Amino acid sequence: MPIRALTTSPLSGFASDVRAGLARPAQKELPSKYLYDNVGSALFEVISHLPEYGLTRADERLLRRHAGDIVNRLPSPVAVVELGSGSGRKTRCILEALSRRQLTLYYPVEISPSALAACVRELSDINAVSIVGFEREYLDGLLEVSARRQRGQHFLVLFLGSTIGNFDRHASVEFLAKVRRTLRPGDALLLGTDLEKPIAQLLRAYDDELGVTAAFDLNLLARINRELDADFDLSQFAHVARINYDARSVEMHLRSMRRQTVRIPAAGLCVEFLQGETIWTESSHKYFAEEIFPMARAAGFCCQTQWIDEEWPFAENLLIAE
Ligand code: AVJ
Repeated sequence: MPIRALTTSPLSGFASDVRAGLARPAQKELPSKYLYDNVGSALFEVISHLPEYGLTRADERLLRRHAGDIVNRLPSPVAVVELGSGSGRKTRCILEALSRRQLTLYYPVEISPSALAACVRELSDINAVSIVGFEREYLDGLLEVSARRQRGQHFLVLFLGSTIGNFDRHASVEFLAKVRRTLRPGDALLLGTDLEKPIAQLLRAYDDELGVTAAFDLNLLARINRELDADFDLSQFAHVARINYDARSVEMHLRSMRRQTVRIPAAGLCVEFLQGETIWTESSHKYFAEEIFPMARAAGFCCQTQWIDEEWPFAENLLIAE
């Protein structure tokens, strides 16, 4: 694989991750967190309204339906930390239910500045809720918030929308264990997990008719062009959704339509693609409802309650730190 170093200046985190992922001799890959710049976050917001993608609506239905019940199971007083708040729309009912019993502090942690701003705007009208946003990666944000913990205050961490599904099964338990280490016994984690469903339905959800998911995926190459001065020709890459039966996940890939060379000056890289070769951009793991309990256990939580949506199989899991 001919890789030429074009620069010796220190690379940004994005540039060095792009370099590491695209210089790989085997399957090329890019970390899925980079899908969420301002354009990507806006495209994901559109995906969440598509008829084929029922995940976000199932998450919202469960939260709306069970907010009272969820809140009643929490320790008090409790501050809310949300990892990857996105637009904040589905958090509203939890904050409203909580603010009926106490003054509520809400700390959204989000890497996309525009999504964070939208979230703060969306939720700032709720009485008795005060919001401080953190433009950070999940664990960095969580650590910063926990440094502000007040005496006797508990935390409710929200990790909704099956974002956990982006980690493989091993990494997801490790991530939950890291979250657990920032918490105290009795703190809660509300975890949204997308459940197993028929293959055809999954493929449609990740390769929709309108091509919004394709645009969401391709935006990653457009972002590399914008930020790293690269020359990806987007018309020469195609979005592919495929099932990984061993991992029980849906994978998104970008397939090179022909043999081509792409220059990425700010990553000091020149990449060759074979015809048909792919860049793996995301995995969305799907779960069996019974699988969450042992995952939680292995990470130091006990799974207190699980609520399941019947229309689009999805589970909301309330985990308590042991
Ligand atoms: C926001 C990570 C949960 O994996 O279903 C949607 C992202 N990717 N369509 C998911 C996504 C393609 C989504 N998560």
